[in-house]
Parts: sequence; C-alpha cells; structure tokens
Amino acid sequence: MTTASEWTPGEAAAKDPHDRPERPWWQGAVFYQIYPRSFLDTDGDGVGDLEGIRRRLPYLARLGVEALWISPFYRSPMADYGYDVADHCDVDPLFGVLDDARELVRDAHEHGLRVVVDYVPNHTSDQHEWFIDARSSRTSAHRDWYVWAGDDPAAPPNGWMSFFSGGPAWTWDAATGQWYLHLFLPEQPDLDWRNRDVVDAMHDVLRFWLDMGVDGFRIDVAFLVGKDVPLRADAPRPAPSPYTHEVLRGVRRLLDDYPRDRVSIGEIYIMSTRAVAEFYGRNDELHLNFNFPPLYAAFEEPAWRACIDNVVDALDPIGAWPTWVLSNHDNPRHRTRYGSADKARAAALLLLGLRGTPFLYAGEELGLSDAVVPPERRADPVGRDGCRAPIPWEAGPGHGWPVDDPWLPWPPEAPAAHAAAQEADPASSLHLYRAALAARRRSPALRHGDFRWLEAPPGVLAFARGSGADQVDVVVNMTGGEVRFPGAYELLVASAPGQAEWRGVLGAWSAAWLAPRPARGRRRRP
Ligand code: GLC
Repeated sequence: MTTASEWTPGEAAAKDPHDRPERPWWQGAVFYQIYPRSFLDTDGDGVGDLEGIRRRLPYLARLGVEALWISPFYRSPMADYGYDVADHCDVDPLFGVLDDARELVRDAHEHGLRVVVDYVPNHTSDQHEWFIDARSSRTSAHRDWYVWAGDDPAAPPNGWMSFFSGGPAWTWDAATGQWYLHLFLPEQPDLDWRNRDVVDAMHDVLRFWLDMGVDGFRIDVAFLVGKDVPLRADAPRPAPSPYTHEVLRGVRRLLDDYPRDRVSIGEIYIMSTRAVAEFYGRNDELHLNFNFPPLYAAFEEPAWRACIDNVVDALDPIGAWPTWVLSNHDNPRHRTRYGSADKARAAALLLLGLRGTPFLYAGEELGLSDAVVPPERRADPVGRDGCRAPIPWEAGPGHGWPVDDPWLPWPPEAPAAHAAAQEADPASSLHLYRAALAARRRSPALRHGDFRWLEAPPGVLAFARGSGADQVDVVVNMTGGEVRFPGAYELLVASAPGQAEWRGVLGAWSAAWLAPRPARGRRRRP
C-alpha cells in the first residue's frame, strides 16, 4: 500500500497540499546534496548553475533519491563560496536569476523530488546591506543587528577563536571604534538574534522561500545561532546557548504553520550525539539534525558500532529521528577517506540500510574521490576544494560541461568513470546506488522499520530492519578477508560488483542486504 508520504515521481501534482501524513515524508526519503558550483555549468563560465541542476532532474529522479538539498545559490561575494550571503532573497548572477530558482523548484516537484534550500542564519556577508549600514555608525538602524563589543583596539572582547582563521573571532572596526564578532571569516559577521528585528527579517527569508514552494531548510551552523550574554571568555568557542534553542523553536513554529510538511535540518557540528539530541527539543525544535561522528569514523566495525549505539541510546528514548551522512562539501569524500572503492561501495549499503534519513553528496553515487588541487588552483580559504570538484557527466575533455577546465580540477575518476560510462556498466557504482535506492523505496522495513543488532563474526556489522515477512538484514564485512554469514536468505543487493546470488559468504570489504527466506515446511517422507 502506498501511503501519502510515499511520494513517487508523477504523483506530485495529485497531492493534497494540506495533507499531513502520519509519517512525515522526510523520514522515509533519501536526500541528495548538491553543491551548485560543481554540479553542472550551462552558461560556459566554468561554474555550475541552477539551470545545470534543472537539466539533471531526470537523472536524479532515475537515481531514486527523493529530496534535494541545494547549498547556497544566493547573492554573495563568495568569500566562503555562498555561505556569505549578501541577499537572502535573490540568486547570485553566477547561478542564474530568481526565476531559475522558481522553475527549478517547480520542475523538481514534477519529477517527484522535494527541494530543501540552505538557510544561513548565523551570519551574513559583510557586503549585506544590513552590515554595510551597521558599520556605518554606532547609531545606524542596523547597528545592533550584529554583535559589537569592546572599545580597546588592543583587546578583543573575549577569547573566542574563528573556526576558519585560527585567530580571534573578532575584527576591529576602526571607523566606529568597536569589535564585531565573526565565528567564521571576517567577511561573515555574526547576526544578533536577540534583536527582534533580526528575528523578523530572518523569518521573512524563510517565508520567501516557503512561499516559493521549497520543502524545507538545511540550517547552517544551527547550533551556534544564539550567543550567550554576557559574552563569556572562558573557552575558545562559544558554547551552544539556551537562546539558540529559543531561536530554533521560533523557526519550527513558523514551519509548522505552513501547509504541507516542511522540514528543518540542523547542521550540528558537535561530536557528542547526546548533545546533538538536544536540538530536537521536545519535538519543538528541528525535525532532523546532522550527527557527524559517523562522517569521521574509520571503516572499522568497533567505530561504527559505537556510532550506531550512540544514536540508538541518545535519539530513540526521545523519539528523535536520526540522520546519516558519509560525505559533504566540507570534508573529504568517504571514497577518499577510506582509500578503497570496495569500502566506499559497502559503506553505501550501510548508510542506506540504517534506520534514519540518509544524505548522499552529489558524485557519491559515482564513487568519486576528491580532486587533487595544486596550490595555485586552491580556492577555499580553509582547503575544502578536493570534495568540491566538478561532477564529470560524460567523456572528456569537458565531461559534459561547456568548458574543458572548470573552476576546480576534475576528480581522478573523470576519464574512465564519468556518469555516462557508469550508465553503460551494470557493475558500476551508479548501478549499485540505483539498485539500493530502488530496493529501499520498495521496502517499508528499510525506510521505517525498527533496528536490531544481529550476532555477527568479529569485524562484521549485522543488523535487522523491520520484522516478519518484511524483514531485511544488513550485513557489512569491515575486514579484509572473507567471512561466513550463514542463513536462508534471498540476496536483495550486494556491494560486490556482479554478485547475483547469496552463498552465505561475504567477500572482503563488502556488504549485502538480505531478505530472510521463510523456512520451508518439512516434506513428508513418502
Ligand atoms: C557550514 C557550512 C560551511 C561554511 C560554514 C560557514 O559549516 O557547511 O561550508 O563554510 O558553515 O557558513
């Protein structure tokens, strides 16, 4: 039976816009993160654009993901490649115009894909008109939209350090004789959400995109939006303040007032899953939160077992729905971190087999590694270029882009394993992801089912999702040798290229999804 939340391509138009299904769509969906600069260029400037995303919608629908998270495409001087927003309600000319965004949302919906956009509430660009006004004088209308403090040019107001420069998180503004706070680059001044005008203006931003039809927001640096007052000096970084939780409750109320389920997904860069749990509130803060320890975990059984146990222990008791992620635009891709295509393939079945909402990062389905970026081509101030390499869609030299040499070098797989080559190869990573996503879509156990550890040999993770006729067992061999995993099973998906049948053995660094076969009734002896 298909419930209202099981939204398949083509059904978009038929959906009741006020429908609130029992189980929200974002619990069953697989998300796909797009870094627009690197997805596909259509206007020849070597930088991807919104039209490039629109042209690949059929590919994404066919891949079988159900929701897109698009990193910022707003007007920006690009000091932090779009995470320095100069106008939250306009598209940067690099990426297109506002109508391109409108069309993209509409067309994505027609392809059965939801659209989540990035929301950057912690800071703006120093070129945002609010900050230009704020720094124009101590009495300007927007002065206290930002965090200003101290009047001694020799002594920053406290010891907070920038996440990016390693230096103070404060920059002295000589013209007005005060310091302003920037937890990231000096070009990214922090907003002061204690100011009601900031709350109103930033809520208007949410409404702008919700009215355009977006299905939710990925909330940048969600854990640090509210600052402690007085500004404490006792740590290099601000601790999440109770006020952050108030800000997030305000965002949640706004989303809940909108028809259709709109989702909020917090970027919570804290390495304690218990601390991450707090950002769900009492189901009155964010719907989903990124939990990053798995993204840093080695491909080793004890490390992953601990990550999974931490999620079960911290999130289950409060009824919070987990998320899982292996790669994103801020960290080396998991193919690079693991240093092995086999491990990367096995990890895909682990990620998509876990209980919770998985997030894929564009190009992950192609098994891409990070590009090697020579020093003279480095773009990002803190060295995250490798994972942001352009996606190779076709054979070279331009790999489907209108220029041969886009803003960053190609990933090493581009010549042999571009998307078109993988399309033609049934053993490719692309086909594995498609098979897994299709199987997951068909299986309520994988989408929503309970999680239960199964007995397994050392170095192997094995767990059951769902129960009864609907059960799927996920088995991941995190060792470099073959392991036996006996049982009466039907093979649903295997990470090992070309494996079609289950013989009770998992090859080195490989994973399988298995459906327990009901034991056959004993035959009567004649
Ligand atoms: C988040 C983004 C990252 C950005 C930073 C500052 O961590 O994911 O790309 O640089 O916030 O906005």
